[in-house]
Amino acid sequence: MPTKVVLGAQWGDEGKAKVVDYLTLDADLVVRYQGGANAGHTVKVGDTTFVFHMIPSGIMHPGKVCVVGNGVVVDPEALLQEADELQTKGFSIAGRLFISHNAHLVMPYHKLLDKLAEEGRGSDKIGTTGRGIGPCYRDKVERGQGVRVVDMLDADCLRRKLQAVITAKNEILRRLYDHAPLEAAPIIDAYLGHAQQLRPYIADTSLLLNEALDQGKTVLCEGAQGTLLDIDHGTYPFVTSSNTTAGGACTGTGIGPTRMDQIIGVTKAYTTRVGNGPFPTELLDQTGERIREVGHEYGATTGRSRRCGWFDAPILRLSARINGLTSLALTRLDVLDTFPALKLCTGYQLEGRVLSEFPLDPRDLEKCAPIYEEVAGWNTPTTGVRRFGDLPVAARHYVERVTQLSRTPISLISVGPERDSTIQV
Ligand code: GDP
Ligand code: IMO
Ligand code: MG
Repeated sequence: MPTKVVLGAQWGDEGKAKVVDYLTLDADLVVRYQGGANAGHTVKVGDTTFVFHMIPSGIMHPGKVCVVGNGVVVDPEALLQEADELQTKGFSIAGRLFISHNAHLVMPYHKLLDKLAEEGRGSDKIGTTGRGIGPCYRDKVERGQGVRVVDMLDADCLRRKLQAVITAKNEILRRLYDHAPLEAAPIIDAYLGHAQQLRPYIADTSLLLNEALDQGKTVLCEGAQGTLLDIDHGTYPFVTSSNTTAGGACTGTGIGPTRMDQIIGVTKAYTTRVGNGPFPTELLDQTGERIREVGHEYGATTGRSRRCGWFDAPILRLSARINGLTSLALTRLDVLDTFPALKLCTGYQLEGRVLSEFPLDPRDLEKCAPIYEEVAGWNTPTTGVRRFGDLPVAARHYVERVTQLSRTPISLISVGPERDSTIQV
């Protein structure tokens, strides 16, 4: 199978990086296709734990090629810091990391405007990661002020462009936020420095990926965030600014849809969310607290505590539909090992009606009450299990209910953060 897409089926942090790292065993190239340093992708290999924000999660496999696709917004500082950290830990990136010409650059004013916009929203805050994602994608779409990776290849052009854009941004800072102007010179100098360091990695990555496919190689597309954070299909406006869904893997890499073979939706065995916005199965009680503590549910990028709740099947059905999922990777089953009873949300009650699909009208979503099916827990550790048949009966039943309710087969079950804590189904 030449191209597989691994994406989040919920609100992010589903364990995509663990799954990508595992599937990289059988892949030749791994490509990130959207988002930026808002992502926090954790890979645990032996005693080394690495949190990726910019570099694809396959990089810890020696010899595999990793690509930052055109749909990503590149924070050069975060990327270079990550590259340094990898090299310090003994993972070489030379000759196997490529960054798309067409990717847009996150600038310091994007991060500042992200923060100021959030402050201005008052009680309607989105709860962004503060990584400048929205303002950078806005500049990309608006066109006048976007700065791309390719602009780094010509120092004079980069200098001129940044000078003009920073002057325009200072006007916005003054008028909208009564904020002091940014000094252009240090930003320009810093980005000229980043350009020198990044130059060897800049490439026409759509060409590189398609030529690899022509040669029979396998490409793994790594999504960031999750389906319900998608700018079009998520819980707008409490979403991120990119297409996190399967279509984004085409536009964000330059690989055509006819070359996509498997779309794997990663889902936790329960649900979490960071930031604001509706969350019908959220548990604001001791059970939610217990999931957070057992699962160490704290954000990999911001350290914020994640909101926790029961598994929500309508979310998975929405995700299966929008992404055309071919299978699910079910993660963190082990986190449920010690719960005496578990609940799965099968639909919602809304003003006397039963809904089986996830409503995207926020007014409806607020009023929805989850309908639960209660099943027995298994009270047995599962982290050491490597075959589906060796899972406790109640755990197998739970996995089978997830499959039935999601209307999607499960191809992989994760029972721990390590690469080998994985059950191939
Ligand atoms: P991502 O953003 O989707 O890549 O996920 P994060 O890295 O933000 O969060 C997932 C967390 O769960 C990380 O700390 C992983 O190491 C961890 N993890 C992944 N799979 C499993 C699993 O099956 N069980 C447990 N206990 N932890 C897991
Ligand atoms: P990974 O790839 C979970 C959330 C933020 C906020 C909203 C918008 O690790 O799964 P943004 O900074 O993108 O403008 O924030 O999206 N968010 C994530 N939540 N996992 C992520 O990434 C996220 N990236 C952004 O909390 O609610
Ligand atoms: Mg994450």
